[in-house]
Amino acid sequence: MRLISITRCQPGMVLAKPIYTDTGTVLLNRDVSLTDSMIQRLKQKGINTLYIRDKATEDIEVNEVISEETRRSAMKTIHQSFTDIILSEQKWKTRLSMQAVTSFRTMFESILYDLKKNRNAMNLLTNIYTHDNYVYAHSLNVAIYSAALAIQQGYNDKELTEIGIGALFHDIGKLMLPEEILNKPDRLTEDEFEIIKKHAEYGFEFLRNQDGISLLSAHCAYQHHERMNGSGYPRGLKGDEIHRFARVMAVCDVFDALTTNRVYRKAMLPHEAVEILYTGAGDGQFESKLVEGFRDTIAIYPLGITVVLNTGEVGVVVDYNRRLPSRPIVRITKHPDGRDVDKYYEIDLSKELTIMIVGCDAII
Ligand SMILES: [Fe+2]
Repeated sequence: MRLISITRCQPGMVLAKPIYTDTGTVLLNRDVSLTDSMIQRLKQKGINTLYIRDKATEDIEVNEVISEETRRSAMKTIHQSFTDIILSEQKWKTRLSMQAVTSFRTMFESILYDLKKNRNAMNLLTNIYTHDNYVYAHSLNVAIYSAALAIQQGYNDKELTEIGIGALFHDIGKLMLPEEILNKPDRLTEDEFEIIKKHAEYGFEFLRNQDGISLLSAHCAYQHHERMNGSGYPRGLKGDEIHRFARVMAVCDVFDALTTNRVYRKAMLPHEAVEILYTGAGDGQFESKLVEGFRDTIAIYPLGITVVLNTGEVGVVVDYNRRLPSRPIVRITKHPDGRDVDKYYEIDLSKELTIMIVGCDAII
């Protein structure tokens, strides 16, 4: 299967992976031949990349680190609890039931199980979900990334659970904000941005009153926009004043925001977002060791993505090097002059150190 941008999607292309809604139901199944109206609908729903069947990559299977079942049931749990909060008359005073807290814990245990079982670099664009509410999908993604990064940093199970629960609820304060500001398609005014910033405090207030959620998880929500150099909000904490769990979450939060399609900006590819994180570490916003750890945890070039090399050859990423995820194995499909190759051949970028990826073709 090959990963392509929705903008390059043509009627007749065959889906290689199902597309889900955020309630976990299948929107389009694998092997469906796409029609023009399906493609338009997916665009409207904010889908920007797809896996399709393709001759050059027919032997390439992209396996999820987080199983489809885990992800679907996680999306359902989040959807149910978060929607309950949104619909309740006094959002602030909503108390999560013990049953809801237990299902979040069980869900997070399944995520941890999957992460520990599959120690491969995390392929990021594999599960394609549409979502009507950005906060829902974002919460799950940040929880998965934070857990993966925390495992990489050697955190123990108790710590992982606190980070995971904190991450699942880190933006819960956004549910308390006026929807017209939260979903505003245009650039926010300064006053509106001040209101958005309040979500960190609102989340903390909400979470610290919940039975079954630790105060530390609540503090993660409070501190996830703080930055190491003091430039963050709401309190402008610095360095060690920020809890180490919240520092992990900050990196993952920014990464997911950058790699997601938003109304006001197109999604970046993973390697572009990682570059921004490096710049952030250079500015003193993030801890360098966390940004490095994160880079080693994810697949910077997702399997199936089309890349252009500095030799001019064009190919598809078909495998990772566990130790050097930024230097994958590329199957060449086109010569530098644009002609298709007669026979595909592969270049292992971890061995050919003078060959670089200079372009990624999936999202244009
Ligand atoms: Fe946030």
